[in-house]
Amino acid sequence: MGVTKTFYIETFGCQMNAHDSEKVIGTLEHEGYVRVEDEADAGLVLYNTCSIRDKAEQKVFHRLNEYKRLQGEGKKFAVLGCVAQQEGEKIFERAPYVSLVSGSASYRNLPAMLVRLEAGERRITGLDDRQTDQTFDTEFTSRSNPHRGYITIVEGCDKFCAYCVVPYTRGKERSRASNSVLAEARRMADAGFTEIQLLGQNVNSYRDPSGRMSFAELLVAVGQIAGIRRVRFTTSHPRDFTREIVAAIDATPTLCDHVHLPVQSGSTEVLRQMAREYTREWYLERISWIKAAKREISITSDIIVGFPGETEQDLEDTVTLLEEVGYDAIFAFKYSPRPNTPATGRADLIPDEEKSRRLQVVLDRQREIQRKAYARHLGQVMEVMVEGYNHSRAQVTGRSSQNKTVNFTVGQPILPAMGSYLPVRITQTFPNSLAGEALRGDDDRD
Ligand code: 5AD
Ligand code: SF4
Repeated sequence: MGVTKTFYIETFGCQMNAHDSEKVIGTLEHEGYVRVEDEADAGLVLYNTCSIRDKAEQKVFHRLNEYKRLQGEGKKFAVLGCVAQQEGEKIFERAPYVSLVSGSASYRNLPAMLVRLEAGERRITGLDDRQTDQTFDTEFTSRSNPHRGYITIVEGCDKFCAYCVVPYTRGKERSRASNSVLAEARRMADAGFTEIQLLGQNVNSYRDPSGRMSFAELLVAVGQIAGIRRVRFTTSHPRDFTREIVAAIDATPTLCDHVHLPVQSGSTEVLRQMAREYTREWYLERISWIKAAKREISITSDIIVGFPGETEQDLEDTVTLLEEVGYDAIFAFKYSPRPNTPATGRADLIPDEEKSRRLQVVLDRQREIQRKAYARHLGQVMEVMVEGYNHSRAQVTGRSSQNKTVNFTVGQPILPAMGSYLPVRITQTFPNSLAGEALRGDDDRD
């Protein structure tokens, strides 16, 4: 009697995936499983996968091969997430020791799937794909950070950009009711969380199923919860970006001074072929709204280089757009053909070496843009949330409202607590971080 059920979980991919894992962990723990840190000790090994670019996917199959040596001893294996949804039952063929394959749109059925797993069933699938209207709301979320936590408000995606696998792996777009979001945010505030990050593949295409609130109104409502000091949201799609969002940030000090608004390309022609449904000018108009805000809002982006048919001039358009916006950070990627996506069949693919060269062009220019962008903070005082310590250099590390990394000294032997907020004067700037000194001791208001 009472054999301990143990599990080990490994997570790849985006913040949505990281947060899904927190919900999966909470669900498993509620079902009586105990988490272990070493896969060798686990009765159930779960692998939450990502398929956004090919390297991520190759990693999965590499890891699955490594699992082979853990086989025996009654161990069970589960593949979750985007590769699970994408590859489906093919995973059983490639890795016959896997007993459960489930995409994120089926996680609400996890407790039932676990019962079948325990009963010894060998090939359990949760591959609802685009059928479901439901979101994965659970009260059993096991958050990894006690100060800052995620809440998913939109799942799935209906945009079907020509390069992107997400609409096929995460199902159709569905929003969570504002009441449910606010109840979770209040529970988090009561539990001591001060920062909330609202998540969605297209977070700003949020449509309250109860019709009560717009996305901007939800932002304000979360920002007004007592105890919440920072609210972030990611990822915004330019198509759904409204002036109301900027007005919400203006009106609500707890909404962070940061918008992540991926442009993907600065060329209108490439944007058209990507099916992004906006032009360079249309995007820049949204940027002008953000720049007209009362507070200075940091703007960041995602860029894809080497999309099929991208010309030298298109690349130059991307570089000039980087300069025109003056992004504080970008995530730049080489285009990677994804299964099932419209762009994959194109004949005008760009060779990998050329994609690498273009990526380097973009990264080099962006580094110079950031060097200047970060330099403007010299001498400023900003509030920093403490995230960690670098003991060897007697430094504290944290993040500003603009989501910039700030390393600073405190001028006293007792280090400020994790999750506390301090005013820091910036004395040095770099292309990717700021350095400074705290103005006074630990500021634990509220
Ligand atoms: N190839 C390269 N980058 C991609 N992204 C999404 N799909 C692809 C792909 N097939 C990038 C986009 C997106 C980010 C999360 O990943 O820039 O915004
Ligand atoms: Fe990866 Fe996209 Fe799935 Fe996130 S949604 S895990 S980035 S494929």
